[in-house]
Amino acid sequence: IGRNYLHFESISSTNDYAKEIAPSATDGTAIVAEEQTSGRGRMGRHWVSNKGQGIWLSMILKPNLSPNEAVKLTQVAAVAVVDSIKEIADIRSGIKWPNDIVINSKKVCGILTEMNGEIDRVNFIVIGIGINVNVQNFPEDLCGKATSLSIETGKILDRKPLTASILNNFEKYYRIFLINGFSSIRNLCKEYSLTLNKDVKVIINNNECIGRAVDIDDDGNLIVVFKNGEKKTIASGDVSVRGL
Ligand code: BTN
Repeated sequence: IGRNYLHFESISSTNDYAKEIAPSATDGTAIVAEEQTSGRGRMGRHWVSNKGQGIWLSMILKPNLSPNEAVKLTQVAAVAVVDSIKEIADIRSGIKWPNDIVINSKKVCGILTEMNGEIDRVNFIVIGIGINVNVQNFPEDLCGKATSLSIETGKILDRKPLTASILNNFEKYYRIFLINGFSSIRNLCKEYSLTLNKDVKVIINNNECIGRAVDIDDDGNLIVVFKNGEKKTIASGDVSVRGL
């Protein structure tokens, strides 16, 4: 992954560009931009991606997977990012299930996985990773919610070794996942999870339910036990989970 590496000074969104070129791009192509003018987050949100302040990265993957399997790659990427942040910035981060990387209760990285294909097989997957590396100030609406590696460590970090580390670690876990399935990285997801054993608010069919997250299963689903004793398996695609 990253053998084919495309670098841009400025781009609208590395995910948008990745989806555009994906049909003819080689498997494992990585796209990195210094700045995104319309960086996107989940649920159509804007992603602040100022020049030189973060890692704005997308990877194009073409595995033989169904969309149901492919969504689990978000968690594979999350595990890789936690390892890389430890390796390069020497700080512990954790995963807010399924796809936010958090330090001191604030978000430092988000992952946006998008795909195109049929019900039984994807044509391609784009995994977008945004890491706030040297951001010093966030817009008002993100204050208290977002942080950067620089704010947390008090240092300015070189983005290149961190980018390289993420590509390497992701490739390692991606291989393991393709051969042995999600169950082979389940333990790391649980170890790094900040959601497990916490109360979470789950929105199911527009209804807010509060329960306790008790496990991540072999398929990457979150197991939540509700006050009435009911146990539910939450797939990563169809709900939003918020810590309380
Ligand atoms: C989220 O937490 O909402 C996901 C944020 C994903 C941001 C990254 S930055 C690189 C890639 N390009 C985008 O436009 N978004 C993703």
